Amino acid sequence: MNIVLLGPPGVGKGTVAAILSSKYRIPHISTGNMLREAVTKGTALGREAKGFMDAGRLVPDELVTKMVKERVAQPDCKGGFILDGYPRTSAQAKALQEFAAIDAVLDFKAPFKTIVERISGRRTCRKCSSVYHIKYNPPKKDGTCDRCSGELYQRSDEKPGIITERLRVYGEQNKPLIDYYRNEGILSEIDASFHITEIGKIVKQCDEALVKSR
Ligand code: AP5
Repeated sequence: MNIVLLGPPGVGKGTVAAILSSKYRIPHISTGNMLREAVTKGTALGREAKGFMDAGRLVPDELVTKMVKERVAQPDCKGGFILDGYPRTSAQAKALQEFAAIDAVLDFKAPFKTIVERISGRRTCRKCSSVYHIKYNPPKKDGTCDRCSGELYQRSDEKPGIITERLRVYGEQNKPLIDYYRNEGILSEIDASFHITEIGKIVKQCDEALVKSR
């Protein structure tokens, strides 16, 4: 099953994707994580992407599409995959259609205030990219990842001005994407406003949408 997760920055896509990935045993492919890794390693892609990411803008379509196309061609994606953060533009959706058949698109929704609160308190592991929240999902030991003991940090695109810019860019690009997948008949809305202690309610909606799309 090939799944796409849509929704604004910080709505909780990555958190739910990690759960779905272990439940359905298919890889979670986060373009944000892949790009941040490229930036850390200082690859040619990372050097090109950094300026766009730091400003809260989208990395050019061709660069991201090439990266995703190569990733989904890997053997571990044969049984399906979860795309988190791609496609983000109509051009990316059209490109994706050329190299992968998408079975279900889950569109995550939550109130604006909730989203801003979630992004502002997020902490990410430098080593394994696990995600925490200082209030809603804190690590056992302050500043340290429960899974791999890596250092937790606040992403450079989590400053207030940059968050606003990312949400603006999302608002600009999102409608045509939603229309595109709605026309394809594979779009399901997911109410992601439930608190993390009730994350099962969000996962359940995803499960139901996936069963429907089979
Ligand atoms: P990316 O990393 O994809 O960022 P994003 O889409 O902006 O999504 P986030 O990772 O910010 O949020 P999320 O929805 O996964 O939320 P999370 O689960 O972490 O992209 C970053 C940048 O890379 C982009 O700005 C762009 O420059 C570039 N890029 C990436 N893909 C691209 C593409 N296709 N084309 C061009 N450029 C691209 O949750 C957020 C927080 O909330 C966490 O702290 C979590 O613990 C907490 N939380 C989660 N769920 C709950 C809950 N139910 N209750 C309470 N707290 C919760």
